[in-house]
Amino acid sequence: MTIEQSPAPSDVADVYDGIGQIYGSAWGPNYHYGYWDDDADDSSIEVATDRLTDMMIAGLGAQAGQRVLDVGCGIGHPALRLVRTSGVNVVGISVSHVQVAQANELAAAAGLGDKATFQFTDAMDMSFPDGSFDAAWAFESMWHMPDRGQVLSEIARVLRPGGRLAIVDVIERGPVSPEGRKVLDHVCENYAVKSLGTVDEYEKALAANGFVDAEIRDISANCNRTLAVMADAVETKRDELVALVGEEQADSLLAFMRLSAVTPEQGYLYLTAVRA
Ligand SMILES: C[S@@+](CC[C@H](N)C(=O)[O-])C[C@H]1O[C@@H](n2cnc3c(N)ncnc32)[C@H](O)[C@@H]1O
Repeated sequence: MTIEQSPAPSDVADVYDGIGQIYGSAWGPNYHYGYWDDDADDSSIEVATDRLTDMMIAGLGAQAGQRVLDVGCGIGHPALRLVRTSGVNVVGISVSHVQVAQANELAAAAGLGDKATFQFTDAMDMSFPDGSFDAAWAFESMWHMPDRGQVLSEIARVLRPGGRLAIVDVIERGPVSPEGRKVLDHVCENYAVKSLGTVDEYEKALAANGFVDAEIRDISANCNRTLAVMADAVETKRDELVALVGEEQADSLLAFMRLSAVTPEQGYLYLTAVRA
């Protein structure tokens, strides 16, 4: 019997191959939030998003020659920065064929096709052998997973003992007001998300799936500016957005993006842990 998963891989691909292409053309090749040191920090999107990648690289602590799994690789930009910085080999996975093709093209163009490869694979059910990676990161991909515990269990399986894990993710922060719930529901309904995780859920799921030494930080204060900056960026592509989804939906997406930036119930988490 096949059990339907929600969101299905094709639901995620529809988002990234649809509105995601427009958001990407406005935002840049890092398909993730930016990190700003404080309110006075006026770093550009490029600097702020690369800064978050550098935090992930530091948290992962991978050494030259090691093999790293990139769970939810986007178009491979963070993975290529990891390869350049740490001298590791990366295997990136995504459920968008379009992204996989773009990522492999970018790696080849950068002369890194032998160090970074990207393939279509569902993180819920990976075919990699047990213990075949030294480290793994899930860079803003966990919010899409139908079952985060199952993905953590899969990552634990393919990591060798002692292998490090780094995650950043969009999360829910309680208590949730009725206004906050509307914003969180909008995220789930429009971005192929079943439910957002919480710090508490992550603590329990990491422990239950073979991870120790977890360090979890709520970095919402540094990252939530992303939504307002992204709304400004996507506004410049409004015509393309309207052509794809219609005027009403485009207005709704942009309005909720701005609302998300000032909704404390929508947050952002950074964590590292070690496979026992
Ligand atoms: C917000 S993007 C982040 C992309 C990339 N990590 C980056 O930072 O640029 C989320 C990524 O997770 C991937 N993803 C979502 N669900 C997935 C699944 N079940 N298996 C593999 N990848 C998945 C999407 O295809 C997309 O590439």
